[in-house]
Amino acid sequence: MTTPCTRQEALEHLKEHVHTDSLMKHSLAVEASMRHFARYYGEDEEYWGMVGLLHDIDYGEFPEEHLDHAPEMLRGYGFDEAFIRHVLSHGYNLRNQVEPIHPMEKVLYTVDELSGFITACALVRPSKSVLDLEVKSVKKKFKQDSFAAAVNRGVIQDGADRMGMPLEEVMAETILGLREAADALDLGMHSAQ
Ligand SMILES: [Fe+2]
Ligand SMILES: [Fe+2]
Repeated sequence: MTTPCTRQEALEHLKEHVHTDSLMKHSLAVEASMRHFARYYGEDEEYWGMVGLLHDIDYGEFPEEHLDHAPEMLRGYGFDEAFIRHVLSHGYNLRNQVEPIHPMEKVLYTVDELSGFITACALVRPSKSVLDLEVKSVKKKFKQDSFAAAVNRGVIQDGADRMGMPLEEVMAETILGLREAADALDLGMHSAQ
């Protein structure tokens, strides 16, 4: 598993197509989660991180045709078909029928949705930070359908099942992943106003 470019170059490719702060932060959050799970599984952190960083490369420009344009964009940057498959699999049952098979794909499928949910949980804390967010608070909000109602709980639970890991553990590990990128995500400790 090799990538055709450095992380910095991948970030520059992404910036050519992603022009909103929210989608850039989402990309960085999924990257951080993927990096964390790569270490957890003893896998290639750079590769998993790059799949996470670039997974939504066509979403900003083609929200209605999401993942239809990603293969061509990624090929243009030198990524191979295996990499493209990993990216496509996060659209399983939503945009395509590329089922998450590889462990990396199962994690991507899960943290794509879960990282957003955890971010929402962090932002309602007094600290607005992921650094003091605990898994029990995430679990509680997960059961409140009215909280972050747009987040598809079914996808997250399905993803955890596919990973073969209890949901609570997936949440705890994803929190740890997001903490590592807290400053870039604006989820660090803010000084008192
Ligand atoms: Fe996506
Ligand atoms: Fe995404």
